[in-house]
Amino acid sequence: MRQRTHKKEVSTSAQTTAQVQRKHENESRWMKSCLFALFVILLLAPFTLIMSRELFQHLVYKHRIKVPFFVDLNQPVDFSLNHTINMYLTSEEGISLGVWHTVPESHWREAQGKDLAWYQSTLSDGNPVFIYLHGNTGTRAATHRVGVAKVLSALGYHVLVPDYRGFGDSSGEPTEVGLTTDALHVYNWAKERSGSSLVVFWGHSLGTGVSTNTAVKLVEQGIVLDGVILEGTFNMRNEKLPFHVFSWYYWKFPGWGYFFPEPWAENKVVFPTEENVKKMKSPLLFLHAEDDSVVLIHSAQQLYNIAVSAQNAERVKFVTFEGSLGYLHNGLYKDPRLPDIIK
Ligand SMILES: *[C@@H]1O[C@H](CO)[C@@H](O)[C@H](O)[C@H]1NC(C)=O
Repeated sequence: MRQRTHKKEVSTSAQTTAQVQRKHENESRWMKSCLFALFVILLLAPFTLIMSRELFQHLVYKHRIKVPFFVDLNQPVDFSLNHTINMYLTSEEGISLGVWHTVPESHWREAQGKDLAWYQSTLSDGNPVFIYLHGNTGTRAATHRVGVAKVLSALGYHVLVPDYRGFGDSSGEPTEVGLTTDALHVYNWAKERSGSSLVVFWGHSLGTGVSTNTAVKLVEQGIVLDGVILEGTFNMRNEKLPFHVFSWYYWKFPGWGYFFPEPWAENKVVFPTEENVKKMKSPLLFLHAEDDSVVLIHSAQQLYNIAVSAQNAERVKFVTFEGSLGYLHNGLYKDPRLPDIIK
């Protein structure tokens, strides 16, 4: 009996030793993994720092996705825009912007084979001039952008559609300040040539942020835009998913700015639309699809309410499109009511 107990004790202690040894092994393996991970992180850190700026710009603007691919932006006629010319404007030193100018559709025959000088001279024909400031991703040739240009042109308006810096065949890199500078430049360029014609901004998605930024810049110079249309607008203050799930991460943890001060400072994304609409003095029209899943209609509603209290319900309008129509974030241009709404 005694002996047996002893044996058992021995075997128990042997087992314990083995367990302890295994535990040590596990720990050291774990430590090694940690050290290895740390080593990899340290090795990659400088690359991450360089890449993060690029990555961040990309997450917000997605300008490198040049959809549609394999197209010649110099040939708007390929997009059945046969009364459109492609041109380049210098927004600031070293920044060239690709821009399409579509004349009112009724002039399509007259426009055949015409040069830049002819197109520019038409800007003062008394028809309103729309500057379409597009959203992130892709170029001025994207289907929904061409769609809006066609609707406006059929209504008898001029349409200028720039690709901001870094987008399409425009040079430079996108930043919020840069995009605003580009829009301001296109406005001034148009204004110099359009005589007393109305000049209106149509911003879509990210472009609504650029539109209100630019409108406020103009207000500061004592200039009131003749109208601003905000399609699928967003409010940075409550947008959890402004553009992309990864950019959400960036807004959510501003501490990134500490680790990546350089890209953070240069590429700070504010788009203070809420503050902007309080300062704006232009007639405002909000367009939003109820089924917009990129930016929920709630944000537009909120901004509308703020804009109404800053101006009044006469100057600020809100038009919604039923979810059953399936327009989502980009499809409003298909709506047959749109021409009447814009007029
Ligand atoms: C040119 O565009 C106009 C307006 O979209 C269209 O009505 C017309 O048929 C087009 N002409 C040609 C030759 O493609």
